[in-house]
Amino acid sequence: MSGKEELKKAAGVRAVDFVRTGMLVGLGTGSTAEFAIEELSKRIKDGRLSDISCVPSSERTKDFAQTLGLDLVELGSQRKIDVTIDGADEIDPDFNLIKGGGGALLREKVLAQNSQRNVIVADESKLSKRLGSSFPLPVEVFEFAIEAEKGYLESLGGKVRLRLARDGSPFLTDQGNFIIDWSFGEMDDPSSVADCLSERAGIVEHGLFIGTASDIIIGSALGVKHLVPG
Ligand code: 5RP
Repeated sequence: MSGKEELKKAAGVRAVDFVRTGMLVGLGTGSTAEFAIEELSKRIKDGRLSDISCVPSSERTKDFAQTLGLDLVELGSQRKIDVTIDGADEIDPDFNLIKGGGGALLREKVLAQNSQRNVIVADESKLSKRLGSSFPLPVEVFEFAIEAEKGYLESLGGKVRLRLARDGSPFLTDQGNFIIDWSFGEMDDPSSVADCLSERAGIVEHGLFIGTASDIIIGSALGVKHLVPG
């Protein structure tokens, strides 16, 4: 495992300390979240945790969790998720995030909005002074509106690119939508960018997560750090 993978693993493992017996747990998507999911399964198997149900944030995570034998349930109306553990692509000092590198931003945001606690796990390379400095913003768009929304994003600035799958065909989300990766550049005010995108009917969801993270667990060369909003 590379040094970066070790840091991701350390963050993922530590995040499982937030889970208690009897909890409903939201499972994020991505390589760092998967370290947490593996650890969760390990603690259930060795008896440290029991009576755990999980809501996956993507088909990828669902498949992964199923292979580990986790109990998966649908998101219901009666019970909020106790803790969601998810990754991020960029994290700013105000705990705002860019997510959606894995294309699961829509379901991830639904979980985040329906969780009592949102624990974000990442290696230290994800920390950034300003969102947009190292990662384009994923924007989920439905087919009818692709060209119109590309034009809208370009009118705000930066460059757009339709995300492609490995075989060169357009990448499709779990909802069958498309992703436009928008390289806007550094954002002075991520909230106002989020507001602009939320107004657009053709944009299903975007990867700016404003004020949803309650805890950030960072795997760093100096050890695992737990950050909470100040
Ligand atoms: C998926 C996400 C992921 O959490 C994000 O891309 C981080 O992934 P990784 O842990 O593999 O770096 O938002 O939609």
